Amino acid sequence: VEPINVYEYEVLAKERMNPVYWDFFAGGSDDEVTMRANQTDFARIHLRPRVLVDVSQCDTSTSVLGTPVNMPILVAPTALHCMAQPEGECATAQGAGAAGSLMIAATDATRSLEDIAQAATGPLWFQLYLYPTREIAASLVRRAEEAGYRAIVLTVDLPALGKRERDRRNGITIPPPPFVEVNFAGIKAEDKGHAWKTITWQDVAWLRSITSLPIMLKGILTAEDALLALEHGVSGIVVSNHGGRQLDSAVTGIEALPEIVEAVAGRCEVYMDGGIRRGTDVLKALALGARAVLVGRPILWGLAVNGAPGVQHVLEILRAELELAMKLSGCPTLAHVNRSLVKLT
Ligand SMILES: Cc1cc2nc3c(=O)[nH]c(=O)nc-3n(C[C@H](O)[C@H](O)[C@H](O)COP(=O)(O)O)c2cc1C
Repeated sequence: VEPINVYEYEVLAKERMNPVYWDFFAGGSDDEVTMRANQTDFARIHLRPRVLVDVSQCDTSTSVLGTPVNMPILVAPTALHCMAQPEGECATAQGAGAAGSLMIAATDATRSLEDIAQAATGPLWFQLYLYPTREIAASLVRRAEEAGYRAIVLTVDLPALGKRERDRRNGITIPPPPFVEVNFAGIKAEDKGHAWKTITWQDVAWLRSITSLPIMLKGILTAEDALLALEHGVSGIVVSNHGGRQLDSAVTGIEALPEIVEAVAGRCEVYMDGGIRRGTDVLKALALGARAVLVGRPILWGLAVNGAPGVQHVLEILRAELELAMKLSGCPTLAHVNRSLVKLT
């Protein structure tokens, strides 16, 4: 039977996957307090629906950094898709394109950024980790430009890897053989690690100087850093705690979103991720000022269960749930979604 919500995809994916790989996808850091809060924080926000609005025409389409998409729901950058499905990121890109969404392809992908671009049927952004050296980062950026990626999403919340206790207990190295982070063919894992800890705002300025693509920073959780990001010429911010995989006890994306939206005051686009599992979660994030949301694990579940069509279906489930939530709250378009739709409890 076909899954009717993303949680059913989670159950099926867990049944199908190697349990050690499953733990890598599913886990967070330390006690996973932040990972759980990513979902439970949405339950604390309630909606204030308006009634007697004509919602016979309801439109979930929008644009992200000028690129039109069918839904304000994008594919978050996640590593190592071949652990879920042999086609890996190429299948994910096809599913995202078929749904009319946009995929952010990860530096730590198991298919090369060029192969992903070739397979893709929709728009792509490239998620960049600034390791191990500026030369290698610059070459990744150049390759992304040449392959047609439309933005660089620099992840800034990984000066060191969070303590992923499930992975330690399972004793896996990342990536577990035979998987390879192909964008880094030939570079040793130790060499990658060295550069993480030294990344600062100067590197953001450097990145700004070497590319004309729009730059987004992913992993901002405070108004202070959002203002610094603006000073460094970013086009967007992703409010994110990395799916609860980095600093445990960090604030959640949905919790940090209002202060960041207020600080930014329309000067760049603001996105959020972490814990999006229902259309109502998307609606709450948009009401609090997000341009769009990113979805991480549910995409991997769709990929593990049914490849590209699974990814497409997960996105379509979320889009359909968002449309229904918009109708039930009196919002025929995303322009109708604003702060007055939510009550924080
Ligand atoms: C298995 C896995 C791998 C991830 N790999 C990356 C990555 O390589 N780069 C990155 O910026 N974020 C990465 N993330 C974080 C996601 O982009 C995103 O912030 C997070 O998954 C959102 O939370 P959600 O899974 O609850 O939707 C990863 C997350 C997961 C679950």
